[in-house]
Amino acid sequence: MITVLGINTAIDHLMQVGELRLGEVNRTMHEQVLPGGKGLHVAQTIAALREPVQLIGLVDAAHRNLTARRMSERGVLFHGVEIDAPLRHCIALRDAHGRITEVLGQGPELDGRDRAALQRAFLRALEESDLVVLSGSLPRGFAADTYAELAQQVRAAGKRCLVDASGDVLRWAVSAQPYLLKPNRDEAEALFGRAIAGVDAAVAALRELRAQGVAMPVLSLGALGAVGMDDSGAWHASVEPGQVRNTVGSGDCFLAGMAVAIARDQSLREALRLAVACGAANAMEVETGYVRTDQVEALLGRVRVEEWTR
Ligand SMILES: Nc1ncnc2c1ncn2[C@@H]1O[C@H](COP(=O)(O)OP(=O)(O)OP(=O)(O)O)[C@@H](O)[C@H]1O
Ligand SMILES: [Mg+2]
Repeated sequence: MITVLGINTAIDHLMQVGELRLGEVNRTMHEQVLPGGKGLHVAQTIAALREPVQLIGLVDAAHRNLTARRMSERGVLFHGVEIDAPLRHCIALRDAHGRITEVLGQGPELDGRDRAALQRAFLRALEESDLVVLSGSLPRGFAADTYAELAQQVRAAGKRCLVDASGDVLRWAVSAQPYLLKPNRDEAEALFGRAIAGVDAAVAALRELRAQGVAMPVLSLGALGAVGMDDSGAWHASVEPGQVRNTVGSGDCFLAGMAVAIARDQSLREALRLAVACGAANAMEVETGYVRTDQVEALLGRVRVEEWTR
């Protein structure tokens, strides 16, 4: 069983408009309300790849049923930690040109009682898991070293921890030496304070993360694919997708692919192949943070993975 901790559950409002006009009334042609958030995306993609998964995240009374129903439809065991304050809401407006304008709510501020409830749920789940994924932003009220502390708990339990975070949370997470870290290019540039233009620069950054004790650092580079490093060496993987519709959430689907392959004891090379196929499959769909299994399978044979020896 893989456990995903995706604390900051969002309620995503996806709206299709014609021309988006600022300061005027805009009417939608289509709208959808879905539970979201990075952890939720990772968990539902793991389930789509047919690996048992449970998700721990916040929920409020108004959205408990919506979230529980959706996660059950998608094959995810959901443990919602209920809070009194409303969840964060995120609005994505897609216009006739395919441009997406996002408005991201700041979300609730949590107190010590809520944080303790999450910690209890996490420790219960950890007992049943060999692999833990910590993914996404933290609600207000959490310290920047939250993922670092949780990753240490996972390591102390002799289990592997995969972390996707940004900014100070990422910086702290490095110090906890998780099994895998997956920054994207922007996150890695902020972490290292320098530009990471291509694969060579990305591999150099991975080498530094390995020296700091991260067993399998991975850097995702959008359309350029991804690079990863472990004892077997450095590998670069990429695939040319079909028509790209929405790349938001590709990193979440990528991480789900890594988690599934690692849970199945596959090599880094095979893990990157699955992860890159998942990232590209997400990019080909309008829905954020989910893949069609048939699309992943169709892409798998086209992924190029090569050892990076330069
Ligand atoms: N345009 C694209 N073409 C092909 N593959 C893509 C494209 N965009 C993303 N991918 C795949 O998805 C992976 C993750 O994408 P990216 O590096 O953009 O993650 P991210 O910035 O963390 O995304 P997010 O945080 O929105 O989930 C890439 O490594 C790549 O394999
Ligand atoms: Mg990301």
